[in-house]
Amino acid sequence: MGSKVETVCVTGASGYIGSWLVMRLLERDYTVRATVRDPANVKKVRHLLELPKAKSNLTLWKADLADEGSFNEAIKGCTGVFHVATPMDFDSKDPENEVIKPAIAGILDIMKACLDAKVKRLVFTSSAGAVDAGPQGRSFYDESYWSDVEFCRTVKMIGWMYFVSKTLAEQAAWKFAKEHNMDFITIIPTLVIGPFLGPTAPSSIITGIAPIIGNEAHYFILKQGKYIHLDDLCEAHIFLYEHPKAEGRYITSSHSATIYELVKLLKEKYPQYNIPTKFKGFEENIENVEFSSRKLKELGFQYKYSLEDMFVGAIETCREKGLLPLAHENNPNGSD
Ligand SMILES: NC(=O)c1ccc[n+]([C@@H]2O[C@H](COP(=O)([O-])OP(=O)(O)OC[C@H]3O[C@@H](n4cnc5c(N)ncnc54)[C@H](OP(=O)(O)O)[C@@H]3O)[C@@H](O)[C@H]2O)c1
Repeated sequence: MGSKVETVCVTGASGYIGSWLVMRLLERDYTVRATVRDPANVKKVRHLLELPKAKSNLTLWKADLADEGSFNEAIKGCTGVFHVATPMDFDSKDPENEVIKPAIAGILDIMKACLDAKVKRLVFTSSAGAVDAGPQGRSFYDESYWSDVEFCRTVKMIGWMYFVSKTLAEQAAWKFAKEHNMDFITIIPTLVIGPFLGPTAPSSIITGIAPIIGNEAHYFILKQGKYIHLDDLCEAHIFLYEHPKAEGRYITSSHSATIYELVKLLKEKYPQYNIPTKFKGFEENIENVEFSSRKLKELGFQYKYSLEDMFVGAIETCREKGLLPLAHENNPNGSD
């Protein structure tokens, strides 16, 4: 695995993580088959087609998690698959059918295609939402924890259907992998922040910069935030794909910060924005929660980026693409 002439498939390739992963794979001379739901949607795929080496080493394939068998052709002939795609609609009116079912059916369909195509390794991008959504509120998590699906279905917190979909999809995938003796790895990122290639602000960045854009509904995710830089995450995907001894689940999370620590950093870097310093219902002395990457580090992986790198990368990209004003109008430090 990891030979420079390999062909690999990346699902959800137009997305935040998918597109950066494609870029890093092309840089390493992999031939990449990128799946998207609509290859003709120029706005959603242009950033892929413009990547260095895309002309020679990248092809787009149409596939939908809700459409059984649609990944077969893209996967046939690949030695590796990175399954990154997932339905992300937090406002879905029919979460069971639009988010949860396609996530579970989709990964099982992809696994069957991998078996048929004799793919050597499948890497699945799972989520911290498959680990820590539950009533306990622990201060430490490792790969042994799973979210409590019944709790999510009962409490119905923002994004509950996403947490349920990722938990059930990963659990169904592990059952299938064991039954069929597949080489399968899952990666568990916490909130992914950093620069981005696509034309719109990724949903995790909208959450990360919630204090700047006043997105109060997402503050609870930042209360005891856990973070990973997009580039560290994509490098970890390739590292784990290529590593002969990789097995099981891997948390990828380099930094923890309470919402108070985060806004301190943001205010110092960006005084031109109106960033709140008080958060109703959050005690000022809340403690950090650790998502342990010990297993990944023991395999030899090292993170490169700081929390500041993540937020500066994300905010500067939003500003360059005109997705965030350069300053808030009523801010005395503002220049906009
Ligand atoms: N960003 C984070 O903070 C974070 C944290 C933990 C885990 N993750 C995981 O990382 C993966 C990628 O997330 P992201 O942040 O890159 O999200 P994203 O930008 O929304 O990308 C997700 C991609 O999935 C594709 N997709 C959605 N529904 C689909 C369907 N029914 N069939 C096929 N493709 C579908 C979309 O592609 P098209 O619309 O082009 O088809 C989209 O580009 C997900 O599995 C997510 O659970 C992300």
